[in-house]
Amino acid sequence: MKSKTHMLATDLDGTLVGDEEALRSLLKYYEEQPYDVSFIYVTGRHLSSALLLIEEEGLPVPDILISDVGASIYVGKHFNEDAEWAKRMQANWDPVEIAGIVARFPELKRQLLPNEKRVSYTMENGDERTVYQVEEALIQEKLPHKLIVSSNRDVDILPMKSGKGEALQYVIDTYANDNVQVLIAGDSGNDLDMLSLDYPSVIVGNAQEELAILQPDPLLYRATSHCAGGIQEAWMHFYEKMNTEPTPPS
Ligand code: GLC
Ligand code: MG
Repeated sequence: MKSKTHMLATDLDGTLVGDEEALRSLLKYYEEQPYDVSFIYVTGRHLSSALLLIEEEGLPVPDILISDVGASIYVGKHFNEDAEWAKRMQANWDPVEIAGIVARFPELKRQLLPNEKRVSYTMENGDERTVYQVEEALIQEKLPHKLIVSSNRDVDILPMKSGKGEALQYVIDTYANDNVQVLIAGDSGNDLDMLSLDYPSVIVGNAQEELAILQPDPLLYRATSHCAGGIQEAWMHFYEKMNTEPTPPS
């Protein structure tokens, strides 16, 4: 992966996946480029759910899969878990206590997940006051966590140092070429922190309202095309001109 000069770090549902024709066109475009692109998938799904989607949609096998909204990192074609990251996630993480507190709020229905790397809920009333109350209760109980709302429906409670942004920065620092040219792509609330890192980023045209709070920034491109079409639009915006220049040596 260190030899790849470019990187696409993208959310899956509603970003890379969602418009089949645009996806095929994006993959073809990458094949035609004179450089290698490393694919990093950054998803809210858990490992087996993400692997199922990769298979069903015929997505390229990623160099790295960041799953569970940044709570897990899997590396290489065998998807070996990054042990250092897993260790960091365990520090001050008490999912049982957290779930006990959130159980006081019947509006939040717990998602059935295969492990406790995160505690996630579906919010049936879509009322953000509930989220504030949950947050307040967790703070009062001094339970370190990061709470993220997506699509005004999914509520993920994660280890404090987790989230897509923290996980992606760790992956870039640990595994990428020092001069790698990155594009980060997303469509909903759990993508906010990675879209705010210091790299070229794209909000795809079909994004949720909740991303409207991101301030205009030269590194943040708002695409009009949906899903993979938006990624391609942004890639050309940031990197097309550079194609006429030689790619820096790896
Ligand atoms: C995906 C996951 C779900 C999570 C949501 C938001 O839909 O399957 O568990 O809550 O993303 O991150
Ligand atoms: Mg998404």
